[in-house]
Amino acid sequence: MHRSYGGPKGPPYPCPPTATGGRKPVKELFGKLADGTEIYRWSLENGGTRLKVLSYGGIVQSLEIPDSRGRYANVSLGFDTIEDYVASSPYFGALIGRYGNRIDQGRFTLDGKAYQADVNDGANGLHGGAEGFDKRVWDIEPFTEGPDVGLYLHHTSVDGEMGFPGTLKTKVTYTLTGQGDWRIDYEATTDKATVVNLTNHVYWNLAGESSGSVYDHELEIAASRYTPVGKGLIPTGELAPVAGTPFDFRVKKTVGEDLREAHQQLLYAQGFDHNWVLDKGITAKPEHIATLRDPASGRTLTVSTTEPGLQFYSGNFVDGTLVGSGGSIYRQGDALCLETQHFPDSPNQPEFPPTTLRPGETYRSTTLHSFSY
Ligand code: GLA
Repeated sequence: MHRSYGGPKGPPYPCPPTATGGRKPVKELFGKLADGTEIYRWSLENGGTRLKVLSYGGIVQSLEIPDSRGRYANVSLGFDTIEDYVASSPYFGALIGRYGNRIDQGRFTLDGKAYQADVNDGANGLHGGAEGFDKRVWDIEPFTEGPDVGLYLHHTSVDGEMGFPGTLKTKVTYTLTGQGDWRIDYEATTDKATVVNLTNHVYWNLAGESSGSVYDHELEIAASRYTPVGKGLIPTGELAPVAGTPFDFRVKKTVGEDLREAHQQLLYAQGFDHNWVLDKGITAKPEHIATLRDPASGRTLTVSTTEPGLQFYSGNFVDGTLVGSGGSIYRQGDALCLETQHFPDSPNQPEFPPTTLRPGETYRSTTLHSFSY
């Protein structure tokens, strides 16, 4: 990975990559839920990246990286208080489960049995229902291993939670590598056949949260097809070519370039909020699938994953009603999400890669976020 450590452009880079592990995770009380449950914030730092994670929702409350002159910014939207997260967070920085993105009317059939999962987005289920993994309190355990530092996050979701079958034991590992990369490893097991699709919902703004819109960010996505949706943002089942449409990010372009094109798919979602069918498909190891760059600061994020899909959401429903951690109002397009995943509504789409998990199997998914500047 190319990095510029200050060089002719600026002062020496303040925190070079470490070979032996960065700052050990530090725990502090962040706040309390209404029922008195204590919520902790863990702070860790490695290879120049600083990460703050809450035990509520496994939320990335802050992720700081430097620019090409060593100036740090928090590049992830969030709040300062637990009350704000509980009251009104549109999944800022949160772990998403049991099922990332939408399930048509929250209904699906598994081994001939019909299930009704929670409906929390119009007529549909979204991100595991009203009390998904983003609203659960996770057990967190820190680790340092060789050049890495990180956190293990555990949650057991009881059989029937939000309408999903099976006791789902989930372990998520957040690792900051010696290179300052943020890696997420997801694992889950079940005692009954169920469906699983886990992801993380960081809202990226590489110029820094509270700095305005991301329309000037450049984005590249290694996908020749996407899954068009109907009105409720449920995929039609088609895998449509991106060629000749606003959905073509195979060659980098700015987020804003085609965002206002009068394309029916953009009207349905008020912008981009679609699943890209990654050309590489499902892979055993994470492979590079997207690059996001803020030309002004030089901060660049590359995303690699084992997953077959990417939900690129251009922050369309962020509507100027929330005040973020930087003290300013978040408006539409002030950030974007790159959610690695299996495709939305897969339990009802026989042609999509399956999301069924059975007893004896282990669900595994890995996504790596690398930063350069
Ligand atoms: C995902 C969905 C969006 C929206 C956001 C959260 O990206 O696809 O439609 O619900 O989460 O607001």
